[in-house]
Amino acid sequence: MDVFRPIPVDVIQVDERSVVDLFVRHEDRLVSFLEKGGTFTRDHLVQLNRHGCTRVYIRGAEATAFERYVSTYSDRILTDPTIPSRVKAATFYVASTHALRNAFENPDAQQIEEIKKTLHPMFRSIMNNEVLLSDLFAITEHDFATYTHSVNVGIYATALAIRFYKNDRAVGAAEMERLCYGYFLHDIGKSRVPLSILRKRGSLSEDEWKVMRKHPEWGYTRLMETGHLTEEAAYISLQHHERPDGSGYPLGMKDIHPCARICTMADIYDALTAERPYKKSMNPFDAFGILRREAFTEFDHNLLGTFIRMLGPEKDVIH
Ligand SMILES: [Fe+2]
Ligand SMILES: [Fe+2]
Repeated sequence: MDVFRPIPVDVIQVDERSVVDLFVRHEDRLVSFLEKGGTFTRDHLVQLNRHGCTRVYIRGAEATAFERYVSTYSDRILTDPTIPSRVKAATFYVASTHALRNAFENPDAQQIEEIKKTLHPMFRSIMNNEVLLSDLFAITEHDFATYTHSVNVGIYATALAIRFYKNDRAVGAAEMERLCYGYFLHDIGKSRVPLSILRKRGSLSEDEWKVMRKHPEWGYTRLMETGHLTEEAAYISLQHHERPDGSGYPLGMKDIHPCARICTMADIYDALTAERPYKKSMNPFDAFGILRREAFTEFDHNLLGTFIRMLGPEKDVIH
C-alpha cells in the first residue's frame, strides 16, 4: 500500500513539469491531480486555491526525488526579495527536510556542509523577518520522522534564541547562525540508533533505552569530528536531554549550557505536539502545561514565557 506525504502547494513551481505524481484529498480518499511529467499551470493553482487546498500529496516513495528537485532551486527562491514569504517558508521546509534526511543517512562532513548551505540564506532572512517566521511555524508538519522533528526543532529553537537574545550584544548574528546549525542537527546522533528502535511503536525495553540514550554523545562526537561546527553546536547535541535537577542523560549534569536549554524546550514541545502512529498529537495549551513543569530555573521560566508568546496564538490555545 502506498504511503503518502503532504507537501505545501506553495512549493510547486508554476509552468514547470511535475517530477512526481500529485494527488489531492477528495472526501476521504486521495485522487490523482497531475501526473508526473505534466505541466503545473496557473489554472491548476487557481483550481487548488478555489477549493482551499494548501497541501497536495505525493507518494512517500517519491518524497526524496521531489525534495531533491525543490533543493535545486531553493537558493534562488530564498534570496529573491519579490517572492512572498509563504513560498519561501514552504521551499525552505522541503529543502531543509531533504538536507536533514541525507545527513541522517550519511552524517559525514560533506552532508553537514550541505546543511549549512541550505540553512544559511534562510537564516539571513528570518533574522529580521517576523512574517517569515510565522509562516514557518504554520508550515511545520507533525509526523514521527526524525528529520521532520529535526527541522521543526531547528525552526522553533532558532526563533526562540533570536527572540531571547535580541538585546544581548554578546550574541551576534554570526554566533546565532552557528547555534541555528546546532539546533537543526541536535539529534544527528540518532543516525546511529537502529531503525527498529527509532520506529518502534509503543514503549522501549530497558536495553533499547540504553541504546537510545547514547544519541546525545554520538551526536556530539560526530559534530566535533566533522570539524564544521562550533563547540556550542556540539554542546547542544550533548546536553539537550540533561535536566537542571540532574535527572537527565547522558551525564546527569546540572550545569547546562543555556543554548542547550533552548533546544530542550523546543525538543519537548515538538515531541508532544507530533502525531505518531500510536498517539494523537497534543494541543499547544496542554504541551505548554507540561513544559511549565519542566521549567526549573529562572532562566527556564523566562525562556518559557518567550516561547508561549511566540507560539501560543490565542486561536490555538483557547478553545
Ligand atoms: Fe534527542
Ligand atoms: Fe530531538
